[in-house]
Amino acid sequence: MENNTSIILIGFMGSGKTTIGQELANLMNREFIDLDKEIERKYNLKTTEIFEKYGESVFRQEEKRMVIHFVEQKNKVISLGGGAFLQNEVRDACLENGIVIYLEIGWEAWLQRLDELTSDRPLLQGKSIVEIKQLFDSRQEIYERNHIRIKTDHQTVTETAIQIKKETE
Ligand code: S3P
Repeated sequence: MENNTSIILIGFMGSGKTTIGQELANLMNREFIDLDKEIERKYNLKTTEIFEKYGESVFRQEEKRMVIHFVEQKNKVISLGGGAFLQNEVRDACLENGIVIYLEIGWEAWLQRLDELTSDRPLLQGKSIVEIKQLFDSRQEIYERNHIRIKTDHQTVTETAIQIKKETE
C-alpha cells in the first residue's frame, strides 16, 4: 500500500469518526476532512437545517459529489457521515482510492452516547429506541465492506488513532 493513500473512516453516527479522525490526522501530520462539516460549510447551514430546507436527497447528492472529490486526493484523513457509504458510487470510490477503516461500536456502548447525538442528527430525531436499533442493525452489513475493522468500545480515542496509524503503515 502506498504510504500517502488517504485514510477514510466509516461507521454509524456517533462511532467517533470525527474525534478519532482529528486525532489521527494530528498524529500522522495530515490534513483532516470531515465530510459533514464540508457540506455544512458549503450551505452555511447545520445538517439538520439542510435536511429541513432541501430534503435528505439533496444532502445525499452533495455527500456523494464531495466524497468522490475528496477521496481522489492523497495524504488525507477523511471522516464520512454515517450514511454516505450506503451509496454504491461512494463505496466504490472509497474502496478504490483509500484505506477504508470501519470504526465498529457495540449497541450498548453506543446507547450511552445517544443523548449527546440526537440534537444534530436528523435521522435520530423523533425515533424510538426500537427504530434506532433497527437502523443501527441495518447499517452494519453496509460497513462490512472495509479494508480494516477496529472495535472502539474498550479503547480511548488516542489508542484507536495509534492503532489505525500502526495498521496502515
Ligand atoms: C447520517 C450521519 C450523520 C450526517 C447525517 C446523516 C446518517 O453523520 O451525515 O446526519 O445517515 O447516518 P455522522 O455519522 O457524522 O453523525
